[in-house]
Amino acid sequence: MKTRTLGKDLIVSEMGLGCMGLSYSQPPFPTKEEAIKFLREAYEQGVTFFDTAEVYGPFDNEELLGEAFKDIRDKVVIATKFGFSFDGKNITGVDSSRENIMRAIEGSLNRLQTDYIDLYYQHRVDPNTSIEEVAQVMKELMEQGKIKHWGLSEASAKTIRKAHAICPVTALQSEYSMFWREAETKVMPTLEELGIGFVPFSPLGRGFLTGTIKPGHIFPEGDFRNSIPRFNTPEYLENNFKLVKYVEELAEQKNTTPAAVALGWLLAQKPWIVPIPGTKKIERLKENNSGTNVMFSKEELENIKKMLDTIELVGHRYNDATESRVDK
Ligand SMILES: NC(=O)c1ccc[n+]([C@@H]2O[C@H](COP(=O)([O-])OP(=O)(O)OC[C@H]3O[C@@H](n4cnc5c(N)ncnc54)[C@H](OP(=O)(O)O)[C@@H]3O)[C@@H](O)[C@H]2O)c1
Repeated sequence: MKTRTLGKDLIVSEMGLGCMGLSYSQPPFPTKEEAIKFLREAYEQGVTFFDTAEVYGPFDNEELLGEAFKDIRDKVVIATKFGFSFDGKNITGVDSSRENIMRAIEGSLNRLQTDYIDLYYQHRVDPNTSIEEVAQVMKELMEQGKIKHWGLSEASAKTIRKAHAICPVTALQSEYSMFWREAETKVMPTLEELGIGFVPFSPLGRGFLTGTIKPGHIFPEGDFRNSIPRFNTPEYLENNFKLVKYVEELAEQKNTTPAAVALGWLLAQKPWIVPIPGTKKIERLKENNSGTNVMFSKEELENIKKMLDTIELVGHRYNDATESRVDK
């Protein structure tokens, strides 16, 4: 697989892998053995960029990556995230205090069975800790060799700029797909100006753009999508399905699948974008990775943009609790 560069010098496979669903947010989960086999298969297929977080599980997801990659540590780029506090396994809130970051990094290094993290993201901006303080801690962790690069998630352009001024930011990880395009106007101009990479999360619209979630779809108990208006309100799902139909048309034109088109479209937006589609199914890895072969002409991209601008989507992408953690 070809590579792309995030920020100044973080080289990653142009399609990453979101590992969250292996143990968080999207049950049923595979066994540990199945998950490790799956991660190794992704690596065999050319993926070198793996996305996890302390909060996925919590904790269990990092353990899977640690087990899967301990003998090929220098061949993979591991991104993980800090920024939540816990009482045992219960999340108690956002917390990017120095104390909590120091606790988090030791746990992550331990579970990942490594002595460095390639890309360490602040998972959510903490209203109680200035971003300058967080950036200062990142600088120290870099000096200690515990992290190589750092990034932010769901941060505003203003926060990114402040953070970057203290300690250069390598990547922003925020939601971006044909299903949620706010990043195009809100953060991408700043990322381009500052030379910061962009890692779109939920690049398949949490599965919606693949065409497998149809109106009336029932998600398993415990699936995060049960709490999101876009997914739990039948009228919204019905209305928004016109976008899926359009993606299906594009897929037919390109002789590929909707998932590959959705991912190829993201890659075509900017050379500094690296999506991290999430799947836990080996048979879907190849399909998602084939998004790297879907090409669009300038004219096609303009036409798609025009079309996307006319498709009216309804329903929030988050519930109120999750939305309250987005930096505006
Ligand atoms: N920073 C943040 O706050 C944040 C938030 C959300 C996610 N993330 C990261 O982004 C990654 C991806 O996001 P996501 O999982 O929310 O959304 P996504 O990648 O847009 O979609 C994942 C969903 O699509 C399904 N899927 C994947 N490939 C498919 C295919 N080819 N055909 C049909 N269905 C397919 C998956 O099901 P199967 O697993 O059954 O294939 C899963 O339900 C996560 O793993 C995580 O690392 C970060």
